[in-house]
Amino acid sequence: MKLIYQQMIAFFVVITTLLLILGISFFHLTTTMIYENTWVQLEGYAYSLKTQSMTIETNPNGKQTFTLDIGKLQTSELLLRNQQVHFTIYTTRKRVMYPDQGYQSIISNRDWKKLEKGEILRRKSDLGWRGADKQNVQNQQRMTDILAPCFDENGQLIAVISVGAKVSSLQESFTKIQRNLGYVLLFSALLGALISYFLAHYITKRISKLRNAARAVASGDFDVNLVDHKRDELDDLAKDFNQMTSSLKQSNEEIKRQEQKRRQFMADAAHEMRTPLTTINGLLEGLAYDAIPEESKEKSIELMRNETRRLIRLVNENLDYEKIRSGQIELKKTTFDAMQAIHNVAAQLKKKAQGAGDGIEVVGPTKLNVFADYDRFVQIIFNITQNAIQFTENGVIRISAERGYNSSILRVADNGIGMNEEQLKNIWERYYKADISRKNTKYGESGLGLSIVQQLMEQHNGKVEVTSKPGEGSTFTLIFPDEK
Ligand SMILES: Nc1ncnc2c1ncn2[C@@H]1O[C@H](COP(=O)(O)OP(=O)(O)OP(=O)(O)O)[C@@H](O)[C@H]1O
Ligand SMILES: [Mg+2]
Repeated sequence: MKLIYQQMIAFFVVITTLLLILGISFFHLTTTMIYENTWVQLEGYAYSLKTQSMTIETNPNGKQTFTLDIGKLQTSELLLRNQQVHFTIYTTRKRVMYPDQGYQSIISNRDWKKLEKGEILRRKSDLGWRGADKQNVQNQQRMTDILAPCFDENGQLIAVISVGAKVSSLQESFTKIQRNLGYVLLFSALLGALISYFLAHYITKRISKLRNAARAVASGDFDVNLVDHKRDELDDLAKDFNQMTSSLKQSNEEIKRQEQKRRQFMADAAHEMRTPLTTINGLLEGLAYDAIPEESKEKSIELMRNETRRLIRLVNENLDYEKIRSGQIELKKTTFDAMQAIHNVAAQLKKKAQGAGDGIEVVGPTKLNVFADYDRFVQIIFNITQNAIQFTENGVIRISAERGYNSSILRVADNGIGMNEEQLKNIWERYYKADISRKNTKYGESGLGLSIVQQLMEQHNGKVEVTSKPGEGSTFTLIFPDEK
């Protein structure tokens, strides 16, 4: 069954149950009130009958008798009969004193005992007889009545006045109320159905919006955004949905980015390898067809060796990167003097720096402990310093070291070509070379150096940061945490 119908039925059931309960209680209350009013009225009649038509006299011998003023009684009876009210005066449970032919209600033994105790009895419905002919069922009549006891001065029950009204006359009022109530209930039920429809429609409409949004997301549209009015659980759901969509969007973009990176990597790797392979192939063909003059042969072989070395380096670095990334290499971390290692690297690169017209400075304490894998530490410093030399002409490369908070901090600063924001974002990517014009330079750089540095720093639980300005130079900061 559709949700809207389920909701409608639920609302409708609640509304009508409520209405029914209210209707029944209202009906009950009004009938009780009608009975109460009738009884109070009947009791009033009984009281006036008693005071107006009954007199109690004491005989000289002390005995008390009571007499009825028949004339007054008849007038009263006539008056009351017009109002559909009947009265009877009993002297004992079964003996009627007045009237001879009037309505006679039946008083049970229990009731009589209560009357003797002075209780006024109110009876909702009593089946009595009109007249003396008790064989004729048509003479039977349903009455609601009160029974009021009359006592002499000694507290002896001398008479009971019963005043009753026909139940059928009350019944008319009940039917009227019932009918009116029926109309009200019918009208309210219709209104209830209408209200339930609108309520159900309102809720299902909101759910439909969510459903449409979910469908849109399923078909790849991650830009859907549901309005969150912060009112109820459906709004909470909308908020969660929005969060889900935004994280799906992020993951989707990340997947696309990764895919793009993978493609780029494949293309770059192929490109990087194709150049040396083409060179080698060209030279080999030249040699095979004897197209290379004798004096150039040695140079050609040297070129081929260089290109082959470059290929080997490329493959090795790629393998190295993958190994570091997947945690396949195990670092042998020890605490050693970083200054000595830095001086070594500076000495090794001194010639290269001079080639570019650069000077290398090492600044720092005489000894500075660092917790790292010695070989990998040298590889990191070497890579970064080599980059600094590569991208700086006639400048100064300064390697400094100092103690940080529970760490050793190293900086390699140059005043070379520097990098812009866009380049800074990408330098950690494999094969990324910011300066296209410097691709395939004499150093044969492949754009793998910094990605390896970054992976190695991660394995050391350390951090590598860079600040740079085009034309002013770059500073790489390396933070190696101490042993815990
Ligand atoms: N000190 C620097 N100054 C200016 N640009 C730099 C500096 N260091 C790195 N870069 C930029 O970042 C790019 C990536 O550097 P990375 O070391 O990863 O590769 P590479 O030096 O080009 O090649 P490889 O190190 O694999 O031989 C460089 O091509 C260069 O454009
Ligand atoms: Mg490099």
